[in-house]
Amino acid sequence: METVTLMNGMKMPMVGTGTNTYGKVDNKYDGALNDDFSALESAIKAGYRLIDTAIYYRNEVGVGQTIKDSEIARGEFYLTTKIPETDEYVGSKGLVEQTVLQSLANLQTDYIDLFLIHQPIEDKKTLKRTWEVLESLVDAGKIKSIGVSNFSIRLLEEMKEYTRIQPAVNQIESNPSNWNNELIDYLKDQAILPEAWGPLVKVTEEQRAKLTKIGNKYGKNWGQVLLRYQIQRGVVVIPKSHNKERQLSNLDLFNFNLFTEDIQIIEEL
Ligand SMILES: NC(=O)c1ccc[n+]([C@@H]2O[C@H](COP(=O)([O-])OP(=O)(O)OC[C@H]3O[C@@H](n4cnc5c(N)ncnc54)[C@H](OP(=O)(O)O)[C@@H]3O)[C@@H](O)[C@H]2O)c1
Repeated sequence: METVTLMNGMKMPMVGTGTNTYGKVDNKYDGALNDDFSALESAIKAGYRLIDTAIYYRNEVGVGQTIKDSEIARGEFYLTTKIPETDEYVGSKGLVEQTVLQSLANLQTDYIDLFLIHQPIEDKKTLKRTWEVLESLVDAGKIKSIGVSNFSIRLLEEMKEYTRIQPAVNQIESNPSNWNNELIDYLKDQAILPEAWGPLVKVTEEQRAKLTKIGNKYGKNWGQVLLRYQIQRGVVVIPKSHNKERQLSNLDLFNFNLFTEDIQIIEEL
C-alpha cells in the first residue's frame, strides 16, 4: 500500500475503507446496530489497513473488536475516528478528554492514528478549547495526528491564531458532483492533507459512461479511474463497499497511471 507523509512526518495509507454503514441493519447509516461486521472483516482480508470510523457511526466497538479478531498487529492498522461537534462531546475540556478516552476503550487500543473533529465548530472559544485538548492528547501519546473534517478555508485560517499543532488532515467530500477544488488547492498549499469522503457517490450515468470509456484503455472500471484520479493528485480516498469484489477493485489502483488527456476529461466531467 502506498502511503503519504503528513506534515508531522507520520505516514498514512493512500486508500482506506469507510465504515459508516458497517454493523447496521440493511447496511443503512441510521439502521440499528446488528453486530454484523463481515464487510469490515472482508475489507481487512482484502488488504485495507486504514479504517475510518466515527462516534456518529455508533460502531466503534464493533470496529475495534473486528480489528482485534483479525489477529493482525495493531501497528499494521491506521485508525481514524471523529468527535461530534455537539456540546454533548465538546461542551467542556473534560468532555473532550473523556470522549477520546472512550474511543480508545471502544477501539481497544492505546492510541488513535488520526482523530478528527467531524464537523465545523462555529463557536470560536469551543473550537479553540477542543483543539487544545486534542493537542495535549497528542503530547500524551494517545493520538498520533489530529485533524478536522468538513472545515472551510475561513475556519482553518481562524485556527491559525492559536494552533500549536496544525491540523494534519481535512476530510471532505470530493466526487464529480462536488470536487471541492478550491478547498483542495488551499489544503495542498497549507500542507494539510485532503482526504475524500464519498469518492464514489453522486456519479451520474453520463459521467460513469465517460469514466468507463477511460477505464477501458487501462483495463480498469469507472470506480478505479475516479479513485486513481484522486490519489494521483494527492488526495487520500476512503471508499466503502459491502461487496468483496468491489472492495478488492477499490484497492487495485497502484498499477496504472492516468494520462494527462484523461485527467482533463475527468476534471471536466
Ligand atoms: N467526514 C464526513 O463527514 C463523512 C461523510 C460521509 C462519509 N464519510 C466516510 O467516508 C466513507 C466513504 O463514503 P461513503 O460511504 O459515503 O461513499 P463511497 O465510499 O463513495 O460510496 C459508497 C457506495 O458506493 C458503492 N460502491 C463502492 N465501491 C463501488 C464500486 N467499485 N463500484 C460501484 N459502486 C461502488 C457502495 O455500494 P456497495 O456496498 O454495494 O458496493 C456504496 O453504496 C464513509 O464510509 C465514511 O467512513 C465521512
